[in-house]
Amino acid sequence: MPCQQEALVTANYPLTGDYWLVEIDSPEIAGSLRPGQFVNIRVSGGPSTFFRRPFSVYRVSADRTRLQVAYKLVGEGTRLMSTTLPAGARCDIIGPLGKGFSIPPRARRIAVVGRGIGIAALPTLMDEAVGQGIEVHGFISARDPANLVAADIFSEHGCSLITHTDTEQPGGLVTDHLSALLSQIPFDAFYVCGSNRLVRAVHRMALRTGVPAEAAMEQHMACGFGDCHGCVIEVNKDMLGTSKAFREVCHHGPVFNTWEVVDGRA
Ligand SMILES: Cc1cc2nc3c(=O)[nH]c(=O)nc-3n(C[C@H](O)[C@H](O)[C@H](O)COP(=O)(O)OP(=O)(O)OC[C@H]3O[C@@H](n4cnc5c(N)ncnc54)[C@H](O)[C@@H]3O)c2cc1C
Ligand code: FES
Repeated sequence: MPCQQEALVTANYPLTGDYWLVEIDSPEIAGSLRPGQFVNIRVSGGPSTFFRRPFSVYRVSADRTRLQVAYKLVGEGTRLMSTTLPAGARCDIIGPLGKGFSIPPRARRIAVVGRGIGIAALPTLMDEAVGQGIEVHGFISARDPANLVAADIFSEHGCSLITHTDTEQPGGLVTDHLSALLSQIPFDAFYVCGSNRLVRAVHRMALRTGVPAEAAMEQHMACGFGDCHGCVIEVNKDMLGTSKAFREVCHHGPVFNTWEVVDGRA
């Protein structure tokens, strides 16, 4: 059940590249959060901060009292987050929100694929999977090496990680590496967060191999809990895409099956 609170900020500092990390003391949200769920944060002080800003939870502390958000400085809201929420401040936060990732029963090996800010949704899934004894293979990409967030979490867990950056390897996709592995190693699930191009590429691999795949979607949001209908997208109701429906990303997602969000012919 989501809750709204004025939670204590315990840290807020530059992480790497364009990213900052804010840590918030909230046993209520951190304690019940499932991988892939998000929080909606109110930022104040600017002309366009009427709406809250949605963020994946990057990590939860081992005692499940604190949560971290890794956020990219993109506009007024995120810039104000970096300047108006120092350690000791109070942060108006709602969470946990949305439907997170599902791990198939008896899964032994999964692949997680992320690009840009999409990577921030993966560590909670990785923590959960590793805790269940599942082997996690990571494939992450960014504009440049400084923006490859979460690489340290893969090494902390001893998970294999393939990185891809536009500056070092122009052209191609990080999924090319996963595609090359598929004939050698069987996977039980794919998870992807990032660009539409990446989601389509993972969906094609899922179709080819019969492996279930989920994608965390991003959409501009207002309420964050299904009331305002401001975050609706069109989805497939069946795997062939013959029947369509409209769904709120905040409420029915942000995690969807890739067949729901990618055209069946992709
Ligand atoms: C479920 C969900 C989880 C998210 N998780 C993270 C996360 O973990 N880390 C992170 O850095 N960001 C995340 N985002 C994106 C984040 O919400 C936006 O970057 C943020 O709201 C931008 O606020 P701003 O005021 O700084 O930028 P604005 O001034 O509002 O916008 C600046 C630019 O960012 C674009 N933008 C704004 N909101 C979104 C959005 N919701 N999705 C995509 N582009 C947007 C705008 O079109 C504009 O180009 C997530 C979004 C969703 C929906
Ligand atoms: S943001 Fe209000 S319904 Fe999704």
